[in-house]
Amino acid sequence: MIKKCLFPAAGYGTRFLPATKAMPKEMLPVVNKPLIQYGVEEALDAGLSEISIVTGRGKRALEDHFDISYELENQIKGTDKEKYLVGIRRLLDECSFSYTRQTEMKGLGHAILTGRPLIGDEPFAVVLADDLCVNPEGDGVLTQMVKLYNQFRCSIVAIQEVDPQETHKYGVIAGDMIRDDIFRVTNMVEKPKPEDAPTNLAIIGRYILTPDIFDIIANTEPGKGGEIQITDALLQQARSGCVIAYKFKGQRFDCGGAEGYIDATNFCFENYYKTGKAY
Ligand code: G1P
Repeated sequence: MIKKCLFPAAGYGTRFLPATKAMPKEMLPVVNKPLIQYGVEEALDAGLSEISIVTGRGKRALEDHFDISYELENQIKGTDKEKYLVGIRRLLDECSFSYTRQTEMKGLGHAILTGRPLIGDEPFAVVLADDLCVNPEGDGVLTQMVKLYNQFRCSIVAIQEVDPQETHKYGVIAGDMIRDDIFRVTNMVEKPKPEDAPTNLAIIGRYILTPDIFDIIANTEPGKGGEIQITDALLQQARSGCVIAYKFKGQRFDCGGAEGYIDATNFCFENYYKTGKAY
């Protein structure tokens, strides 16, 4: 059973400067909740209650968010404002939180490897909190992936079709179709130019990884941008074993940029805030 979920959260969030100059990008609010809280809620819904966060300098707010604020609790005790904290209190009650720091930014693969002491020798999920994923029709994306893991027992990446001109923003896969929404990965390229992309099936910020990935990452040379790429490590895993790519059900908002962030805000305002499901 998968219990752990790793959140790489050491990145600078340069696409959102100056907002992210002194505040972690994971704390950007989508309506009334920070991005990372949506990610932790999705993880807990999937039964992943051991939350591991890879932080960095200037990210203290993340730890404070997932803690009790006694002053605040005291202030609002007995008032109708208590309802605002119900959701975050549930996360504190039902999840454990552990942290480690990434001291140098050397890519997503390196960030995941930094989380190794928190994960140990078990399969785990990875959430990139700036990809906000929703599925109003049913299971959250991580829940869908955990179910798939129980069937395939190998690493899984969530994918979606993107505009072929956008492949340079993503890891892109090619694979053999097993079901109309499931592929066995045969190739994977990090941020290819459209003319070099094997398909338009792009990896989004949800992964399930088996723990052998750590040794593979440790032996992965820097790739695109001089960084250690999880995409390169996963290709290695796909070649020596099996990696599944899954076209998830639902919607994903790229909250690392203004457009996706605004779309996510509108979605959450309409579907959660206005309907009283925002806390
Ligand atoms: C990372 C990964 C990339 C993936 C993307 C999803 O890139 O390296 O393969 O497609 O996340 O959001 P980043 O967006 O951190 O540059």
